[in-house]
Amino acid sequence: MTDLPHPKRPPDSVPVTPAEGTPVIPPKPASRAAKVSLWRYLRLFRADLLSAQPAKLYRAWMAEFRTPVFRSFLVNQPDLVRTVLKDRPELFPKSNRIGEGLRPLLGNSVFLTNGEVWKRQRRIIDPAFEGGRLRQIYPAMYAAAEAAVARLSTQLEQQPDRPIEIEAETSHAAADVIFRTLFSIPIDHETAQEVFHRFRAYQQGQPILNLAAFVPLPRWLPRFHRPATRRNAARIRGLIKGLTEQRMAAIDAGHAPDDLATKVMTMQDPETGELFTTDEMVDQVAIFFLAGHETSASALAWALYLVALAPDWQEKIAAEAAALSLDQFAAAGRLRISRDVFREALRLYPPVPMMVREASCPQQFRGRAVPKGAQVVLSPWHLHRHERLWENPDGFDPGRWQTENGKTCQREAYIPFSAGPRVCTGAGFAMIEGPLILSMILERFRVEPVADQQPIPVAHLTVRSKNGIWLQLIPR
Ligand code: HEM
Repeated sequence: MTDLPHPKRPPDSVPVTPAEGTPVIPPKPASRAAKVSLWRYLRLFRADLLSAQPAKLYRAWMAEFRTPVFRSFLVNQPDLVRTVLKDRPELFPKSNRIGEGLRPLLGNSVFLTNGEVWKRQRRIIDPAFEGGRLRQIYPAMYAAAEAAVARLSTQLEQQPDRPIEIEAETSHAAADVIFRTLFSIPIDHETAQEVFHRFRAYQQGQPILNLAAFVPLPRWLPRFHRPATRRNAARIRGLIKGLTEQRMAAIDAGHAPDDLATKVMTMQDPETGELFTTDEMVDQVAIFFLAGHETSASALAWALYLVALAPDWQEKIAAEAAALSLDQFAAAGRLRISRDVFREALRLYPPVPMMVREASCPQQFRGRAVPKGAQVVLSPWHLHRHERLWENPDGFDPGRWQTENGKTCQREAYIPFSAGPRVCTGAGFAMIEGPLILSMILERFRVEPVADQQPIPVAHLTVRSKNGIWLQLIPR
């Protein structure tokens, strides 16, 4: 395990609680200067996607990055976003370059494919995530949430005054949710730690939006992945393959549990009657695990940090949770306050901050020619904080979802799960899981920020904090 990052050290500081009623403006990365050289831009970009962008993107409808070697267009205008994602998605396939960094891990998974292969994969996968299935897997989600609360309680019993790095906890919890709902097994502590660290090491080496997305490399150029990246990918895929093979055997023997893995592995393509092969299933499980745990963990950690800044909201969530029997699926649908807070966390810190498509034929956007092959970047990060669309764009205000502006923007300028046919398969899943875990943690603990430990958002595979998110938890 020599290639794993060092564990983080807890900060040496005391908790602070902001005065009640103060408007909460949570951390936003500094923007770069308006004009920089291409070389400087590329260096900034490599360090962090978010702070490499100029402030004008929070007001622009569209921006073009034109250099002698590549052109890309960032599209921030709601009707153009709709064109790319919903109205004409076939003209804007996923850019192959996005997959370059992830391919050793994800193979040919649904996240990376296009065209007929992608359509077939969605036909087999989508039924597993329908509403009725979510009801069936809810007890597994609830059990994972209970386990997360129990882990936090144990930590606090042992060291009551020690701040907790909450991203590690939410990653553990979200990974546990995925393993329980997919394979009906709780993630034991050692495996969770290994998988968590290996995914983290992987994403540090291979950000989802790697440089190649904006700076297309010639197709003939061989792609090299670092040995540590390959080792991590092989280890993670090995773990998944073992589980998939065991499950295949259990299905054949007629005693497989009725979970997401069994559902996907026994689902015949309605058009051809085919099933996924084991290798195809490994690819899909890898993406369920990656897309399902990194994203939810990021959103949950930011949601907990946001309510630490806004104690009144955490009290409301705690009271809402206390009045419901959360072990029942029906109660999850009544977590309205928790859902509004989680939705606001997804607005301010969309786990997938940018998505890239490729123009498959020439287009006209706002009177400008978008040539064939140009990269079209959609940025939930900028769209969700667009100064000409949102009231109080940088403020934390879960009440906004009940206002006219909030409702309009939710329809037109809110895409944390993307939109259209390629919308996240796990959106419904995540909108149950996130508010549930948030509520169960806050029902049990108050959370406070830690002085001198303001998180700095940076984009790796998802939007994370540069030095972790530190919170002081106090049992209620
Ligand atoms: C808060 C949690 C989540 C967020 C914010 C999120 C966000 C997204 C986004 C933005 C995309 C589209 C990416 C693109 O087009 O480039 C996506 C795709 C996807 N997500 Fe999620 N996701 C979340 C949770 C999950 C969960 C829990 C699962 C599964 C268990 C999942 C599975 C997938 C898959 C399979 C795709 C690929 C869909 C396709 O390309 O057809 N996601 N997600």
